[in-house]
Order: sequence, then structure tokens, then C-alpha cells
Amino acid sequence: MKISFSKVSLPTEGALVVSVLEGRKPSATARQLDEQTDGLISRAMAASRFEGKKDQTLLLVAPAGLQAQRLLLVGLGKPEEIDALAAEKLGGTVVAQLQAAGDEVVTVAVDAIDGCPLAPVHMAAHIGFGARLRSYRFDKYRTKEKAEEKPSVAKLALMLEEHSAAKRRFAALDNIAEGVFLTRNLVSEPANVIYPESLAEQVKMLADSGIDVEILGEKQMRKLGMGALLGVGQGSERESQLVVMRWMGAEDENAAPIAFVGKGVTFDSGGISIKPAANMEDMKWDMGGSAVVIGLMKALALRNAKVNAVGVVGLVENMPSGTAQRPGDVVTSMSGQTIEVINTDAEGRLVLADALWYTQDRFKPQAMIDLATLTGAIIISLGDRYAGLFANDDDLADRLTAAGKEVDELLWRMPLDDPYDKLIKSDIADMKNTGGREGGSITAAMFLKRFVKDTKWAHLDIAGVTWAKKDGPVTPKGATAFGVRLLDRLVAEYYEQK
Ligand code: BES
Ligand code: MN
Ligand code: ZN
Repeated sequence: MKISFSKVSLPTEGALVVSVLEGRKPSATARQLDEQTDGLISRAMAASRFEGKKDQTLLLVAPAGLQAQRLLLVGLGKPEEIDALAAEKLGGTVVAQLQAAGDEVVTVAVDAIDGCPLAPVHMAAHIGFGARLRSYRFDKYRTKEKAEEKPSVAKLALMLEEHSAAKRRFAALDNIAEGVFLTRNLVSEPANVIYPESLAEQVKMLADSGIDVEILGEKQMRKLGMGALLGVGQGSERESQLVVMRWMGAEDENAAPIAFVGKGVTFDSGGISIKPAANMEDMKWDMGGSAVVIGLMKALALRNAKVNAVGVVGLVENMPSGTAQRPGDVVTSMSGQTIEVINTDAEGRLVLADALWYTQDRFKPQAMIDLATLTGAIIISLGDRYAGLFANDDDLADRLTAAGKEVDELLWRMPLDDPYDKLIKSDIADMKNTGGREGGSITAAMFLKRFVKDTKWAHLDIAGVTWAKKDGPVTPKGATAFGVRLLDRLVAEYYEQK
């Protein structure tokens, strides 16, 4: 879908989108159209439940007096409540509604609105951003789709006076969409296509954007003593990988970086503690945390972020086989701490144990944030709206929570208190890798905490938010890339030199 910005002139084809405010005088465009069409808009509103409330829409087909084939009225609600997120939702809703209608060209009139805190330039840019995000589709494996089954919209034009400024603003946001789409693509790919080495190959392509990429194989990891990560991958035919990405965008190249660490289990069968068959296919997206780190690094590089950022992803496949790790095995992590593997399905924490240790040891980051589809228990706690946030630093937790609210990727802080630590005591090693069913997400986080020294650290358990079962305003069902926009915002607001 091509998104463009142009000056105000009514379209002669396709669909025209006009916003309507709740309980207010119609916008300039709406007023003009109403006159031109002999009161079509006011009559349509009087004859329907459409009142211009937020998220309401009304589609009018072949309106007399207009050259456009369709007129879509969308509600914006109360002007004082309109913000960037509302504009993004509107963009997403418009695209979703019109994809099915058959129009190829869509024109959105962006009017100045009295009493609205969002200026038209930002309004237009964020409508475009929301439209872009919602237009995502992973259809490379559909070979038999007919043209009329495919989404129709090829061009979205936003018309407003200050179209050049809006275009520039949108271009900055579109870089973030690029990162989001990379993440969604990687998460959507099946596990016969994306496995540790092929995922590492994908990361290599980020070199084109100015990111330095380093790949460690099993031999190098063995040298470093990463027994926890390697144990998870030892049952797989595929070689485990650790990939390090570096974006050095700060003026001071010696400034301590912010580090992002991702769980990249390209398929989680559970290993010898094998999972039940139902929904096991979902475990292709158990590399979601790593995909967010990869997409985020791309977004930061594309928008030339003035920050030093490091991304580290631990890539493994968790399989049962004659060489697989057994329940009861004891492994030694890079930190020197030993772990009794009670359940081979609690593998993400084993991967992160070594990835976190390596990252803080090598890069001495000013803050370290990991993302992982770590526990089923977080889905029981929080469902699919909030991701779980665990942190050893209140400021970092507050910053993350605030950034999440701004981009509508919500975080809920969970406890990380010492008393939970005794639940992972082992009889024969320094710790065990499961703490039982109670507080399952918390004991998983407590396990990770044992591999963090005095670095400011946060852990995001994204098991419930990585894959959407239903369409959302700016995320079609499937891979969401939850975390990319949030962490991009965190960096922009708190870690970038202005
Ligand atoms: N990858 C899973 C967690 C998961 C479950 C993510 C469902 C997304 C959807 C993780 O590796 C796992 O298997 N966790 C176990 C831990 C248990 C064995 C202590 C779980 O949550 O059941
Ligand atoms: Mn597992
Ligand atoms: Zn897993």
C-alpha cells in the first residue's frame, strides 16, 4: 500500500473518508460535502445510529453529487480527547473497512479541528502510520488466492494543507513500521523455515542498515561456558546460535549502551518434557522476543537514532531426541552457577541465563531489557492485553510503563521479591529451573534475576501478547510485534541525545 500526502481536492475515484466529531458542527470538508450532495451526510446521520462517536463508521455507496464511489464517515469522538493513538486507530479502521469493499484508491480528508490538541500534520502522519500497521499481511504461502479475495487498497492519500510537513513526519514513523513488519514476518514464518541458523542469516541482512552483526556458533559458546543455552539446543539437529547486533548512533562512541536481549526458541516442543499436541504449532512463535529485538534494532538504525544500542538474541530449537537433555540433568551456566533441569520445557530461562550474563559482562550496559515468551502462567495472570513487567529498578519500570501507555502496548508490573527465590532452590545444584505452578511467571523471573548483577534490568514476559487471535485496531490477527514500538519510544524519550 502506497501512502501519500497531497493538497486538498476532492477525489474523482475510489473512496473518500471524512471524519465526523461527536455532537459538534461538521468539519469543513463534511460541511462542504453536505452542501454539494443536497444534505446527504446529515440525512444519513439522521437515518442511522452513526453520531460521530469514537470508532463508529458509516459507509455510503455511490453517493449522488460526488465523483467518489464511496463515502466513509468515521467518528472521531470529542475533539479534546483526540490524540496520536486515536488517529492511528482511525487509520487502521479505515483500511480494514475498505480493504473488503474493493476500492483501490482511498482519500482521507484531514481537517483542522477546533479544540483538538493534535495538529493536522500529526493527525495525518499518525492516520497514515495506523493504516500502514493495519495493512500488514503475511501471505507469501498463499498460492491460490483469487484477486477478489486479496485486500484491494493500493493507494491511501491523506489530504491537508500542510501536506509536505505531514509527509516528513510520516516518513519518521514509517521507519518504525519497517521494524514492526520485520518482526511480524519473522514471527509468522514456520519453524521449518526459521531455525537458529536461518534466523541468524536474516539478522545478517541488517548490516545493510548500518548495524554491526556478529554470530557465535556452538563451538564459541562452548568456549564461553554457556552450558545452560547449549543444553536446550543439544537435542536438535540444528546448531544453536547467539547473535549480537550493535547500533552505535550516539555521538560518544564510548557511552554505555542500552541492551536488549531476546529469547529465540525457534520451536519449543518442550523437549523430553514434551508438550501436548493441541496448539503445539503455536510454539513456532517462541522466538518472538528475539524477533522484537531484531525489528527494534532495524527501526533504530533506519531512523538514525542517536543512541548506542546492543541487541543479543539466543537462538535454539528445543527438541526431544536421543541427544536431548533429560529432566534431572545438571548444567553449568556461563556465570558458573549450576542448574538442575527439572523440566526441559522451562527452556527459555536457560537460554536467557547465558544471554543475559554474556550481555552485561561484555557490554556493561546502562540498562538491560529482555523480552521472552517465557511462561504460560503470564497468560493466566494478564490475558492478552498487558505484558508482564519485572524489574530490579523502579525508574526503569516507570519509564517502560509510561512508554507502553503512549504507544498502547501496555505493561503491568509484577513482583520480584526475595521470598519467591526459595521456590527455585535445588537439592543438588545452585538452583532448579522450575518453581512449581504457583506464581509461575514470578519464579521464572526470579530465575533470570540470579543472572543479573547490579545492572538496571527489566524482563518483559510477552507470552500473552505476541500472537493475536483476533484483529486489533492497528494489528491484524497473528504476529503483533508487541514491544517494538514500546522500546523505540523508550529509547527516543529517555536514552537518546536530543
Ligand atoms: N514457551 C513456553 C511458554 C509459552 C506458553 C509461550 C504458551 C506462549 C504460549 C515456555 O517455554 C514454557 O513451556 N513454559 C512452561 C514452564 C513450565 C514448564 C515451568 C509453561 O509455562 O508451562
Ligand atoms: Mn517451553
Ligand atoms: Zn518456550
